[in-house]
Amino acid sequence: MPYDPAQVTERWWHKATGYQIYPRSFADSNGDGVGDIPGIVSRLDHLADLGVGFVWLSPVYASPMADNGYDIADYRAIAPEFGTLEDFDRLVAEADARGIRIVMDLVVNHSSDHHAWFRAARADRTSAFHDFYIWRDPGPDGGPPDDAMACFGGPAWHWVPEIGRYYYGHFSAGQPDLNWDNPALRAEIWDMMRWWLDRGIGGFRMDVISLIGKDVDARIYEEGPTLHQHLQEMHREVIAGRDIVTIGESWSVSTETAQLYCGRDRDELDMVFQFNHVVEGWDPVLGKWAPRPVDLVALKRVFNRWQIALSGDGWNSLFLSNHDLPRHLSRYGDDTVYRVDSAKAIATVLHLMKGTPFIYQGEEIGMTNAAFTSIGQYRDIETLGHYADQMARGVSEADFIAGANANGRDNARTPMQWDGGPGAGFTTGTPWLELNPNYTSINVAADRATGDGVFAHYRRLVGLRRDDALVRHGRYTPHLVEDPDIFAYTRTLGDARLIVVANLSGEEITVDLPGELQVTGEPLISTHGAHDGALGPAPVFRPWEAVAIRAER
Ligand code: GLC
Ligand code: CA
Repeated sequence: MPYDPAQVTERWWHKATGYQIYPRSFADSNGDGVGDIPGIVSRLDHLADLGVGFVWLSPVYASPMADNGYDIADYRAIAPEFGTLEDFDRLVAEADARGIRIVMDLVVNHSSDHHAWFRAARADRTSAFHDFYIWRDPGPDGGPPDDAMACFGGPAWHWVPEIGRYYYGHFSAGQPDLNWDNPALRAEIWDMMRWWLDRGIGGFRMDVISLIGKDVDARIYEEGPTLHQHLQEMHREVIAGRDIVTIGESWSVSTETAQLYCGRDRDELDMVFQFNHVVEGWDPVLGKWAPRPVDLVALKRVFNRWQIALSGDGWNSLFLSNHDLPRHLSRYGDDTVYRVDSAKAIATVLHLMKGTPFIYQGEEIGMTNAAFTSIGQYRDIETLGHYADQMARGVSEADFIAGANANGRDNARTPMQWDGGPGAGFTTGTPWLELNPNYTSINVAADRATGDGVFAHYRRLVGLRRDDALVRHGRYTPHLVEDPDIFAYTRTLGDARLIVVANLSGEEITVDLPGELQVTGEPLISTHGAHDGALGPAPVFRPWEAVAIRAER
């Protein structure tokens, strides 16, 4: 079906850029070294200046914090280290006053093993809560039902001697999977979601939602047989009639299955986070701990495929960084000599695509990977769990740390660098995870003081999306797809055209520009001055130079 923007009902989140906050690492108000909700409130003006329309708040619920809140012990309470429900309500109100909506993280594939449901479930197999989780009797040899492995290391089946059964914990023993086949469990979740929405939140980011339809006996975990019926029930019970945004996380979604989640007539979600571009950077067999060098042609192929696949129906989310990934500037850009230029060039390419862009905290000032040197500096359950597994397999500590420094999750979790003073303006105490020592030069205050730093560039990109229908709805056409250094595409809407050309390399390049990209028009944004709004047949692009020009056909 040809894409007709006139047929699309414009929603508030089509105009908005999202901003992800990882609360533990954003701003600490009381000096205990852990970020908290009052800290977020104190920094809302930073987000308002950036112009973002909503915040995706990583979990702030009561939790033993085995996975920093992705292990929830009480879905209706705030973790004491993050604040109180009153603090949360104040956050919603203060954000609202700045035109920013708060999107909660919904973590319902699993709870914490500290949740009251699980305590009841594991104490007594006749309890009504027992069936809220996934239990199996031991296999014929008395061991676990199968040899499934948990994402954070070790087996996925966890033994409870008191009742002589195993439960399934896809991620870890502390994160028992909820049994979505149980209608009473689903009713509890719908009720809980309505409870938060009634507090005025702007929607949900749904953690590993592609796992909720699993069939453990068939060993189908991702996109299992009941996934879409659950999402449609959720839509009927909770979402229908509310002007919110829903974003599902799916590590398995492909361009073939994306419309099942977010097609116009599906009544499921507004968009999904897909990871096809992320796994391009992993060894296909050894996974994330064995990073592969960046291949721009392959990366462009992924983005181009997604842009085209969802051009008629569905909606893309656009992101390179989040709390589970390395800092994208260190991964795809140059985090030393061309740090500022590469941060801007990459952002230009990503933010001018069609979809809803997400900025991960610190990205807007060009924060970089952590570069820890010893395993004792890491805090992440995944990194530490895999470290144990890999050491048992004879991998050297140095090799493991090299992998963790490239792709580990703590890279994104070092505290936000607000200024160059002690504690980086993040805390007056000792941060829960070490600060990146480069905070003395890379920080919000320093970047904003230059006037044309990374932040200023991001603010402009956010504004372009908000103000220009061409950026929101223009049809995407890729160009120079085989070029190893240049990312180029056009967007078209009516008589208007947007031409985006970026040199994503550290070398100066004379670009052999196809005729369709040779234009004269209005320079919208650029890293180095926009060639005066004109691109001829052979423009010279400096290292990490990006240009976007708006032209009439
Ligand atoms: C998601 C979260 C990640 C978490 C996992 C288990 O992938 O983004 O941080 O560890 O789910 O909840
Ligand atoms: Ca604190």
